[in-house]
Parts: sequence; C-alpha cells; structure tokens
Amino acid sequence: MLQEPITIIDSPLSEDIKLSAMKACDSAFTKSVINRIEFKELFRKINTNAEFFIAVKAEEPVGYAAMYANNDKTKEAFITLLGVKHGHHGEHIGTRLMNCCLNTAKNKGMKTVRLEVLDVDKGAQAFYIKQGFLADGRCSSESIFMKKELVWSR
Ligand SMILES: CC(C)(COP(=O)(O)OP(=O)(O)OC[C@H]1O[C@@H](n2cnc3c(N)ncnc32)[C@H](O)[C@@H]1OP(=O)(O)O)[C@@H](O)C(=O)NCCC(=O)NCCS
Repeated sequence: MLQEPITIIDSPLSEDIKLSAMKACDSAFTKSVINRIEFKELFRKINTNAEFFIAVKAEEPVGYAAMYANNDKTKEAFITLLGVKHGHHGEHIGTRLMNCCLNTAKNKGMKTVRLEVLDVDKGAQAFYIKQGFLADGRCSSESIFMKKELVWSR
C-alpha cells in the first residue's frame, strides 16, 4: 500500500497551529505536556523564543519538536520537546524532526545541543544515542541530560 508522504513544516507558524500540534501529539509523551500546571508559561516561552517543527501526514500533525537556539553566550541549543505520536513510531519521523533541529542549531551558530530525557524513557534514550547524543549527567531525580557536539564542515 502506498504510504502517505510526511512533510515537515517550520517557522513562521501561527500560535494556533503550534498549540493544535502540541495537543494532537500529547500522547507521545510519558508525562503530558499540555496538562502541566506551568503549561501556559511553557507555551508562551516556546511560542516566543523556540524554533518549532511539525511533522504532518495526511494533513494531520504526527509529531513535533521545539528547540531554543538563542543562547549566544553558551552557543548551546536546547531541545525542549520532541515527540512522535503513537502509531507512527519507526517511520523515521523523529529522525527528520531531529535533523531539522540540528541543521537549524548549526545555522544559528550553536556548537552543542542538549536535551533532558526521563530515566524511564529508555526507548527515547536509545533514539538519542542513535542521533549521536551522549549522557551528560543528571538533570533531576528522574531525568538525565544528553548532549551532542555539532560538527562543522568547511
Ligand atoms: C523517541 C521518539 C521521538 C523516536 O521517534 P521515531 O520517529 O519513532 O524514531 P525513528 O523512526 O526516527 O528512529 C530512528 C532510530 O532510532 C532508534 N529508536 C527509535 N525509537 C526507539 C526505541 N523506542 N527503542 C530503541 N531504539 C529506538 C531506532 O533504532 C531507529 O533506528 P533505524 O534508523 O535503524 O530504524 C518517539 O518514539 C517518541 O516520541 N517517544 C516518546 C516521546 C519522548 O520520550 N520524547 C523524549 C523526551 S522530550
């Protein structure tokens, strides 16, 4: 059977489009993002400062990534959220979203990319290792940091 193509859309995206993608893909996350008590503030920050990528299949959002790449002092980008809807895992949607993040971070002059992942999310950790990330210490009692150096080609 012919697979529906997957398209990645990025900035400029309206606030409504970002919010509806986050709602549609919330089941991807072990801990709901949209039901967090601080979600309003989290969304305000993401909407104002983060790069945002949405994977669309058959006109529906099936995954998204949000990344800050605006720290000119540390030159470190931070992927704050990256998730793919259940039922669409293994279609390389996560890899495509990650590639968008890494390319954008490079284009913005970042040298490293960091993210936080829960201890229990072993599948996500395996995915990040495959993307070239290495564990980089504890973030909280239930999560670790992972980090990737961005390689510059001349
Ligand atoms: C982790 C996640 C983003 C991966 O997305 P995906 O689209 O299924 O991943 P891909 O199809 O691009 O996988 C790429 C590679 O990563 C590896 N991988 C992906 N998910 C994996 C898993 N659960 N266990 C082990 N390896 C995995 C695969 O080996 C795959 O290798 P391949 O290229 O040989 O097929 C997705 O499973 C997800 O949304 N998980 C829940 C959300 C989450 O935990 N996010 C992290 C915290 S913000």
